[in-house]
Amino acid sequence: MMKKQGEIYVKNDADKWFERNMYSNHNCFTEHLTDIFPKSFLRNKNIAEFGVGRGNNILFLSNYSKQIDGYDGSSKAIAHLEKLKESRPNIDGMKVNLGEEFGGLRTYDVIIFGFFTYMLSNEEFKVLVENSKKLLNKNGYIYIYDFLSETMIEKMDSHNDKLKVFKRNMDFYLDEMKDFYLQHFKLWDNSKLNEYMNKDNQHTLDVFIESDDYNWTFSSLFKLK
Ligand SMILES: C[S@@+](CC[C@H](N)C(=O)[O-])C[C@H]1O[C@@H](n2cnc3c(N)ncnc32)[C@H](O)[C@@H]1O
Repeated sequence: MMKKQGEIYVKNDADKWFERNMYSNHNCFTEHLTDIFPKSFLRNKNIAEFGVGRGNNILFLSNYSKQIDGYDGSSKAIAHLEKLKESRPNIDGMKVNLGEEFGGLRTYDVIIFGFFTYMLSNEEFKVLVENSKKLLNKNGYIYIYDFLSETMIEKMDSHNDKLKVFKRNMDFYLDEMKDFYLQHFKLWDNSKLNEYMNKDNQHTLDVFIESDDYNWTFSSLFKLK
């Protein structure tokens, strides 16, 4: 039987991503999340980030939440969260394959899909959403940020030719997230993510985003029905 994307990714590629990406700031999408929600709302909430990378968003969110847990396939990423936990006790982490069912450390008010679903097949995306529903508290939210495309695109991953990269359209997300209400949507330009971090807030519309979808990235907040 063909190995699933997640299985292949977690074996080697997850740690390689950690080693390749050394930047140290949280991203504009996570900052935007703390702008969308009232700060007083987040303060007593349990949040999880799926696909944590270097843990920079986790560290940032530990200032805003009761508990922030990171889930990732990279042992190095999880070891890094354990190190952060020594000075930030509201941080925890667990190594998982996000494309398979797994049990969480606790249940959550907000689960963030942090720019990794492009590495999951459509079947694995379905498993992820079903698993996340089990891990969400009543009225819980999923916040997702990832590539966005007008058409459904699958192409070979430049880092590993056994893997595919998926760029999906909004119809796909709305269909897969049909048990959720879409509460917030924003289109971003993937080539300007660092530039956005210099803005006073992440709310302002980028009126210069090109009509061509090559650099489109989106963030969406979904609330469980
Ligand atoms: C592009 S990084 C994003 C990191 C962070 N959320 C950010 O935006 O800076 C994607 C992360 O997802 C993890 N990842 C990708 N596919 C995975 C899978 N199937 N299971 C577990 N982790 C996975 C990678 O190891 C990596 O840490």
